[in-house]
Amino acid sequence: MSASLVNTRQIFLRLQIWLLLSVIATHVAECERKLRQAHILFRHGNRSPVAVYETDNITEDMWPQGLGQLTDKGMEQHYILGKWLHHRYVVENKLLSERYKRSEIYIRSTAYDRTIMSAQSCLAGLYEVDASMPIYGLRWHPIPVWTVKKDTDYVFLNPNGTPCPRLKELAKQRAESDEVVNYINQNKTFFDLVQKRTGLSPESVFLNYTRVGDAVIMERLDGRKSNTWAQDEKIYKKLVQIVDYGHEIAFKNPTAEETRLRSGLLIKEIYHSFQDIVTDSKHHNAHIFSAHDTTLAPFLAGIGQFDNKRPTTASCVLLELYEETEKNGDKRYSVEMYFRRWQNKTDDDPPKMWIKNCSSFACPLEEFNNLVKNLMPEDIEKECNYKPNSPSTALGKFIIFTLLLSCVILVLAIITCLFRGSKGRIRLWTKKKRFEPINFQLLGNPGSDSEDGEVFDP
Ligand SMILES: *[C@@H]1O[C@H](CO)[C@@H](O)[C@H](O)[C@H]1NC(C)=O
Ligand SMILES: *[C@@H]1O[C@H](CO)[C@@H](O)[C@H](O)[C@H]1NC(C)=O
Ligand SMILES: *[C@@H]1O[C@H](CO)[C@@H](O)[C@H](O)[C@H]1NC(C)=O
Ligand SMILES: *[C@@H]1O[C@H](CO)[C@@H](O)[C@H](O)[C@H]1NC(C)=O
Ligand SMILES: *[C@@H]1O[C@H](CO)[C@@H](O)[C@H](O)[C@H]1NC(C)=O
Repeated sequence: MSASLVNTRQIFLRLQIWLLLSVIATHVAECERKLRQAHILFRHGNRSPVAVYETDNITEDMWPQGLGQLTDKGMEQHYILGKWLHHRYVVENKLLSERYKRSEIYIRSTAYDRTIMSAQSCLAGLYEVDASMPIYGLRWHPIPVWTVKKDTDYVFLNPNGTPCPRLKELAKQRAESDEVVNYINQNKTFFDLVQKRTGLSPESVFLNYTRVGDAVIMERLDGRKSNTWAQDEKIYKKLVQIVDYGHEIAFKNPTAEETRLRSGLLIKEIYHSFQDIVTDSKHHNAHIFSAHDTTLAPFLAGIGQFDNKRPTTASCVLLELYEETEKNGDKRYSVEMYFRRWQNKTDDDPPKMWIKNCSSFACPLEEFNNLVKNLMPEDIEKECNYKPNSPSTALGKFIIFTLLLSCVILVLAIITCLFRGSKGRIRLWTKKKRFEPINFQLLGNPGSDSEDGEVFDP
């Protein structure tokens, strides 16, 4: 009797498990979840310092590519990050093909050698094809990395190099706040020590100290031994603190206006790309944005969570759009955000980041759209209070005067040539064609790579 009861119970239990499994199975079949699009925003890899301090025994000429440039380690970091992206987007989610397809992915970088080279290194890892391809056996596929001139990168990826007077004003207010003054006073002993060790002048501002911190950090990341004082663990930790603090004061708790000016165009780009998926318009499956800590930090602070620390080299932010198709064919979309600090691994899951003020981690697209509504500028130049056509400076007036004068001279020259007959005219034409210069300026000025210094590490 009791044996048969146990038997019945077992059968009942099995039946329950079977029922549960089949419910799960039908649910999965009913509601298919698929990754449709990914936006990948990363910081360049390890680089040489952007500035050296006077007493540093690792001098500028000891960096093979000069200051502010991607190091070999930096390239390797991005190659490994590319392998990780391959695992996530080619192998796991099948968002991208094994082989590069131009219709699937678009890569945009700021106009710095280190960000362009980081993107290239990353792509070498993302699309490491088999060696049978026809490019002399290289396991490599050439892939375009697009950029625009620094001063027209209108606060899209490079919040520093852009003419945005309003943003400058807001940044100044933060830098001169009582909080910063207090911080500097409270840490005076340490700042004095750094000043003595580095040869900084007493007039140095906070930025000069973060530069020292940056130099010491980058030297250590590259495995180099610098002056004894900088190798002291306690001092090193304090320098890291100061560099982080620079990011904290610049980016924490941003107003909607600050987010619009610093990250608004990037948010807008992502917003529209998501719309393209929903409306089934032409789109890329993935966008890569190669940029700086000063791009990542305000973006995190604006729509995610910012831990008030400088994003480490080769760290990346992901924004992914998922599509769920229900049994009746209805589609629902949600957005997920991740922030991954670089690590020497290629198959880990990235840490989740809850989108600010969203009701769930997988943020329903309508809710996401609503949250970012006020974070997208309609006319960035207007909001920046940027007036390109009214140079008020003496230099501007001088340039305009010179241009006008050149025009008058040119017109006179043309008239003279015309009057000299057809021979002169032809010569003028061929001459112009033959000497048409290649515009090196189009892609920004590589020479100024290490000098850009609005905030802390562009
Ligand atoms: C990553 O790990 C490998 C194997 O341990 C090591 O050889 C390589 O130097 C590491 N790369 C970086 C950039 O840390
Ligand atoms: C401090 O930094 C500013 C801006 O980069 C620079 O112009 C100035 O020369 C630096 N001062 C010292 C003492 O290094
Ligand atoms: C810099 O000085 C430190 C301490 O004397 C030394 O260990 C290190 O090797 C020096 N580095 C260079 C590049 O000379
Ligand atoms: C600077 O001062 C703050 C506030 O007193 C303190 O928390 C911090 O540890 C100090 N930092 C350094 C580098 O000494
Ligand atoms: C998020 O919520 C907080 C408090 O509820 C509010 O102050 C803030 O403006 C909201 N931020 C956004 C981006 O909606």
